[in-house]
Amino acid sequence: MKIIAANWKMDGSKELIDNLAISLSDLKLVFNFIFCPPFTLIDYSIQKFASFAKIGAQDCSVFENGPHTGDISCSRLADIGCSFVIIGHSERRKSGDYDSAIKTKIENAQKAGINQIVCVGEDLNTYESGKTLDFLSQQIKVLKSVLNNNTVIAYEPIWAIGTGKIPILKEIEKIHNFIEKETGLTVIYGGSVTLNNYIDILSIKSVGGVLVGGESLKIERFSKMLYTW
Ligand code: 13P
Repeated sequence: MKIIAANWKMDGSKELIDNLAISLSDLKLVFNFIFCPPFTLIDYSIQKFASFAKIGAQDCSVFENGPHTGDISCSRLADIGCSFVIIGHSERRKSGDYDSAIKTKIENAQKAGINQIVCVGEDLNTYESGKTLDFLSQQIKVLKSVLNNNTVIAYEPIWAIGTGKIPILKEIEKIHNFIEKETGLTVIYGGSVTLNNYIDILSIKSVGGVLVGGESLKIERFSKMLYTW
């Protein structure tokens, strides 16, 4: 089954979760649904969606426990029933998450029994200079030793996130084939996925799913995506 994952980033509310729950009450699941709200809404999402969705966090601490005020460890996430965590999102890499921290976070998640969605993706400059595969190969190489059977790779070209631009389908296919070959893992696509383009993207064989940002906060459109696939 393909994956449809939602990343609400810093947005959303209990009210929006209630609306989504009402809207999805007749949903027949023909895909794996992974819902990643902000930390503060994880517990509420589990209460509302646990029967049909896996709930994920958007990040985790580099530490396993101890005096790290404000951090949230993988074991705390596991304790409340969270079963996925997004690691290495470009928005976190931009705020200082470097390869060594990403590796440690993957190991911590693995130890706590949490599945990981590990993000990779090139910036516009790299894309325009035709160096996408070289760049991805390097990003994957440094993480390879910690990737495991509970890791899903999310290919998210940075220039496609929140911009309304996506690579052409042939490019997505080629890049996913490449990542799949390098890692042997399921590869999902993220970056400006909408109700209008998700079927074309999900229909590509090497696309194991989609990671949806902005569109997943629009309850009517997102619900339509889930009912239509
Ligand atoms: P958008 O769907 O808003 O482009 O965000 C993609 C993303 O970053 C998902 O993790």
